[in-house]
Amino acid sequence: MSATVVEVEKVEKMKNKPEDDQLGFGKYFTDHMFVMEYCDETGWGNPRISPYEPITLDPAAVIFHYGQTVFEGLKAYRTNDERILLFRPDMNMKRMNKSCERLSMPPIDEAEVLDYLKQLISLEKDWVPSSEGTSLYIRPFIIATEPFLGLAPSKQYKLVIILSPVGSYYPQGIQPVDIKVEEQYTRAVRGGTGMAKTAGNYCATFNAQSTASKQGFSQVLWLDAIEKKYIEEVGTSNVFFKVNGEVITPELTGSILPGITRMSVIEMLRSWGIPVSERKISIDEVYEYHQEGALEEVFCTGTAAVISPVGAFEWRGTSININDKQIGDVSRRLYDTLTGIQTGKIADPFHWTTEVK
Ligand code: COI
Repeated sequence: MSATVVEVEKVEKMKNKPEDDQLGFGKYFTDHMFVMEYCDETGWGNPRISPYEPITLDPAAVIFHYGQTVFEGLKAYRTNDERILLFRPDMNMKRMNKSCERLSMPPIDEAEVLDYLKQLISLEKDWVPSSEGTSLYIRPFIIATEPFLGLAPSKQYKLVIILSPVGSYYPQGIQPVDIKVEEQYTRAVRGGTGMAKTAGNYCATFNAQSTASKQGFSQVLWLDAIEKKYIEEVGTSNVFFKVNGEVITPELTGSILPGITRMSVIEMLRSWGIPVSERKISIDEVYEYHQEGALEEVFCTGTAAVISPVGAFEWRGTSININDKQIGDVSRRLYDTLTGIQTGKIADPFHWTTEVK
C-alpha cells in the first residue's frame, strides 16, 4: 500500500553541496527533512517535508530528561546509470519498531514511513554522491516530546528523517583498524536495551571510546557485562572472526544490536559455501586461536562502517596483529560484493536493493 504524497515546503535557497572528497561522515546535511508527529489521542499524523531546520522543543520534553528515543541508519547509493538504490530499507523499518517496543514508544506503519522516506530521497536525489565509497546516509529518529517530568512514557512524539552525504566512516577507509578490548566499562547487559537502536547505548560508550582514541585505537571491542569475557560488538558495528576457514560471530542474545549488514554478511557467506556459526566466542579463545595460527581474519560490519577489517587487538596490555594487518580475502570479497550490490555494479541475487524513483 502506498502512502499519500506528503506536503512539501521547499527551501528558498539551496545549500552549496560539498565535494565528494570532503564528505567524511555525518558533517553535512541536505536541504530538506521529513517530519511527522504522534499523540496518544490521534496516533501518527501531519507528515510533511520541510526545509532542514532546528527543532524547537519544550525544555521539559521527555527526551531531554529520560532519553526516550530511537534511531536508524541506512544508505542510498547512486548507480553508474544514475539510479538511486536503497539497501534493505524494510529491515530498518522493522528494527525501528523493535526498538520502539523496547523503549515503550508507539509503533510506526513500516510501509508508510518507508514510502515517506523514499519521497524525501526523491526530492533530495541530487545530494546522493557518486564517487567510490560515498553514499547518502539516512537517519530516521523518533524523540519523546511531551513536556512532563513524571517517570512515564511520553504521550507525544516526533519522527524526523534527515539525510547526510557521506564518505567512509573511518578516515582510513577499508584499511584495517586497531581496536582496544574494553576492560572497565560495559555497553549493555542482557535484559537491558542493547538490542535497540537507542541513544543511551551509544553515549554510554563515549568515555571508553575517547580513552581508546587518545591511545591511537579506532574503536573499542565490548565484552559481555557479566563475565567480562564473551565478545559482544564494536560500538559502531558487529564483529566476525575467521578461524580455520569457519566464520564465527557472537550470537544475538539481547545485548547486541541485530545488524542488517551482519545479517546480510551471514547470508552472503553461506551462499558462498563458507560455514558461519553464531555462537558465544570469548576473547581468550580469540587470543588462543591467534597463538595457534588459526585466526585468519577479523572484520566488523555496519551500515556506517560497511566491512571494516581489524588489523590488531589490544587486551590486558597484549597486542595481537591479525593477518599481518592486511585486508583478508574474505573481508575484501564481502566488501566488493556488498558495495557492488548496493551500488548496482553487480547483480543482486538476494533482491536486497530497492530503487527510489
Ligand atoms: C550505523 O551504522 O548506521 C550506525 O548507526 C552507527 C553509528 C553509531 C555511526
